[in-house]
Amino acid sequence: MSAAPFTVAIDGPAAAGKGTIARAIAAHFGYAHLDTGLLYRAVGARVLDGADPIDAARALDPTALEDSRLRTADVAQAASEVAVIPEVRAALLAFQRGFARRPGGAVLDGRDICTVIYPDAEAQLFVTASADVRAERRWAELRAKGDMRTLAEVLEDVEARDARDSARDAAPMKPAPGARVLDTSELSIDAAVAAAIAHVTACGGRAAP
Ligand code: CDP
Repeated sequence: MSAAPFTVAIDGPAAAGKGTIARAIAAHFGYAHLDTGLLYRAVGARVLDGADPIDAARALDPTALEDSRLRTADVAQAASEVAVIPEVRAALLAFQRGFARRPGGAVLDGRDICTVIYPDAEAQLFVTASADVRAERRWAELRAKGDMRTLAEVLEDVEARDARDSARDAAPMKPAPGARVLDTSELSIDAAVAAAIAHVTACGGRAAP
């Protein structure tokens, strides 16, 4: 049995389905999963509480990210505001790189995994969908948690975050040259997961025995 590192790197805009696909790949292949958005959300949450973003990023314990408040829309906006700060990104880099090379395989999802964090990842995906479809998905998720903002408000949030994430100088979101682009606008979850697993398998990913 080999515990050799194997990295699956997944990037893409808000609510494109990255998290669902990343979790499914991790379960299928027996790899560890890191939702890197939670790192930025944790820093954003601390800034909403009054902390300095760079201090908060440097002091973050990246293994303690289990706070349900991190999933709120306000924290998402705060996350994308702190994510433009190069020192914040730098403080979170070593943990992500180490995670990518852990023995036994790793799946990381975010905005800059293929482009900056681990460009040598054996399997790379850019998961996307139209802004309307993504806003509807996020709207349904937020409603299920009791957040009653309107679809139009959610679309505005998603578009503002996309614009900020793509336009920033530090690690802007964009498809890496080696990434397979997977547009999930018209795909069911099962079909999107199947396409992603097929790509990882084609790149040499093997399910743990
Ligand atoms: O779940 P959703 O796609 O809405 O957001 P997320 O992945 O939790 O990321 C929240 C914010 O963190 C994004 O809008 C980005 O600004 C930032 N982020 C980043 O800059 N780099 C990453 N690798 C992951 C997230």
